[in-house]
Amino acid sequence: MPNKQRHILVTSALPYANGSIHLGHLVEYIQTDIWVRFMKMQGHQCVYVCADDAHGTPIMLNARKLGITPEQLIANTDKEHRADFAEFNIGFDNFHSTHSDENRELAELIYNRNVENGFIDTKEVEQFFDEKEDMFLPDRFIKGDCPKCKSPDQYGDNCEVCGATYDATELKNPYSVISGEKPVLKPSEHYFFKLSKAQPMLEKWTQSGTLQSGIAKKVTEWFKDGLKDWDISRDAPYFGFEIPNAPKKYFYVWFDAPIGYLASFKNLCEKRDDLDFETYWNEDSDYEVYHFIGKDIVNHHTLFWPAMLEAAQFRKPTAVNVHGYLTVNGTKMSKSRGTFINARTYLKQLNPEYLRYYYAAKLSSGVEDLDLNLEDFSARVNSDLVGKVVNIASRCAGFIKKKYAGKLSATCTEQAKYDDFVKAGKSIAELYEQREFSTAIRQIMALADQANQYIDAQKPWVIVKQEGNEQLVQDVCSVGLNLFRILVCYLKPVIPTLTEQSETFLNIEPMNWESINTPLLDHTINKFKPLMTRIEQEKVDAMVEDSKDSLAETTKHKGQPPKSEQRVSDEIAAEIEFEDFAKVDLRIAKIVKAEHVEGADKLLQLTLDIGDQTKNVFAGIKSAYQPEDLEGKLTVMVANLKPRKMRFGLSEGMVLAAGPGGKDLWILSPDEGAKPGMKVK
Ligand code: MSP
Ligand code: ZN
Repeated sequence: MPNKQRHILVTSALPYANGSIHLGHLVEYIQTDIWVRFMKMQGHQCVYVCADDAHGTPIMLNARKLGITPEQLIANTDKEHRADFAEFNIGFDNFHSTHSDENRELAELIYNRNVENGFIDTKEVEQFFDEKEDMFLPDRFIKGDCPKCKSPDQYGDNCEVCGATYDATELKNPYSVISGEKPVLKPSEHYFFKLSKAQPMLEKWTQSGTLQSGIAKKVTEWFKDGLKDWDISRDAPYFGFEIPNAPKKYFYVWFDAPIGYLASFKNLCEKRDDLDFETYWNEDSDYEVYHFIGKDIVNHHTLFWPAMLEAAQFRKPTAVNVHGYLTVNGTKMSKSRGTFINARTYLKQLNPEYLRYYYAAKLSSGVEDLDLNLEDFSARVNSDLVGKVVNIASRCAGFIKKKYAGKLSATCTEQAKYDDFVKAGKSIAELYEQREFSTAIRQIMALADQANQYIDAQKPWVIVKQEGNEQLVQDVCSVGLNLFRILVCYLKPVIPTLTEQSETFLNIEPMNWESINTPLLDHTINKFKPLMTRIEQEKVDAMVEDSKDSLAETTKHKGQPPKSEQRVSDEIAAEIEFEDFAKVDLRIAKIVKAEHVEGADKLLQLTLDIGDQTKNVFAGIKSAYQPEDLEGKLTVMVANLKPRKMRFGLSEGMVLAAGPGGKDLWILSPDEGAKPGMKVK
């Protein structure tokens, strides 16, 4: 008997439209997608929506740097993200954008209701302002010396050296990351969401079974000191939505980001007759809403978001499901080790279902980090999926096809075994529902072992050679394929492509959880094609190598809006081979001309003579040298660096400098005997 049909809306956090999807993100999208696919197989109405998180200062500045509009930038990312998700079989019912009409309308609606219900306040705030760029600076765009340990070059919200957190205004010797200038303090009126007023509601809601126990406990610590009101406005220039009746004030990206869940769902409701926005989101709705998120954005989803919803007379989520972070080979993903792997880099080498399976085999309902150990990854996938599951089909299919014209036996000679396999589905289903995927996978693999043991014991490849065993061989292989069908059904939420290919091979309709209740009898199957090949070590190595190359690519993740536990650490560059080093053409260059660059705060424009050619180079050394001190002197340059287009013109190389920066930066070489163009060894 199918259970009562439930109505379930599911979301994953909205990825920033400012960078590529990587294997860390995929922990979340794969976890959510497996859960959704499982719920759909149960016959429930389950809808999975997501969107790109398109607003904020980093996106605005990134677009500016690339010489395109933010709209162009987010359109490019939208395409890239959609393609990545599609190839990983992330089956969103809708993928939208926070920069959409629906989101603007809903953000205004929620804000206006927040105002009416007395949840919005204004306050004057003193903030750092970059006079050169004519803009207020978010914390991530101010650096200076840590007020506590004095380490230089720390961000405006926390120190990566000693771990201190502080206000940007406490930094010593602050400077703007954008212009390099010293920022000034300037007052501005800001809009605040009165989180303090929502505290009593939140204290109840967060402890009512909506959160995992560890998370619920952590949240109570935040209540102890009393919740602080939340600054939801930003001054122009900003890429986002203007706040109603507040010219030049914009919603902070984190205000309209979760509203993007509603916007994406609303956009889907326009396209589908069976979905009604109100029924899901009215205050008294008994439909279910689940958010899947990473542990770094818990406060946004367990405090701000439910409070905003309540203060706008919308229902609150049924539960927020938090997962841990991805580590690779036991440590944080690292660009230098080649373990900061983008979705696209993975896809160039490997089948996405390998990763889906591996994550499933390791995911639980807890918030522990998940380790992708690349050796274990190959071993596990090869042994479980290829060695156990697919192997059953490949051992049985040939006989059925060749000797019985593809026809399975008319009776099941192992009905008890078959029924055991079906019965196991109950506990596996419960585990899926509870997000205990790793235990579900363990149980499925235990069944796969049993199926293989059965075939091993019957030895169809031996008995086929003996007279009078015609029926027996057909029966054994039919049992094998029927057990295979059950296993694939249980794995369907995890590996939908392999399942689909198996459904074609078995010549059956797409399966749901009930499809396997009775065995396939007297049924004709199709030709067997290899369903999955083993992971080759070379492919994994190539992926890691390729990820090392994308060093420059991935640094563009920097400068996202702050999240309490996010650290952007500068890593030591990757080790290189001697051959790589040998490619660098170092030359003595004579600085024939050195000039200021209009509009640039750090750069000098150098004309360099390297004997047979002159090169134009923009060098970030203005803090250390006056142009007139440089002319006529010798320096060392990288002469074969690919020319790079900068805001001020083409730069055709680089000069080498040493020193901590600021005034202490040296580029000059002693000039006795050195001649322009001379090779540096
Ligand atoms: N844009 C915000 C979310 C807004 S939701 C209204 C954001 N974006 S993100 O791109 O940085 O992250 C998207 C999701 O991926 C988050 O839930 C985050 O926790 C998750 N992950 C990002 N890196 C991750 C790992 N390395 N490991 C596991 N999950 C990770 O946050
Ligand atoms: Zn410090």
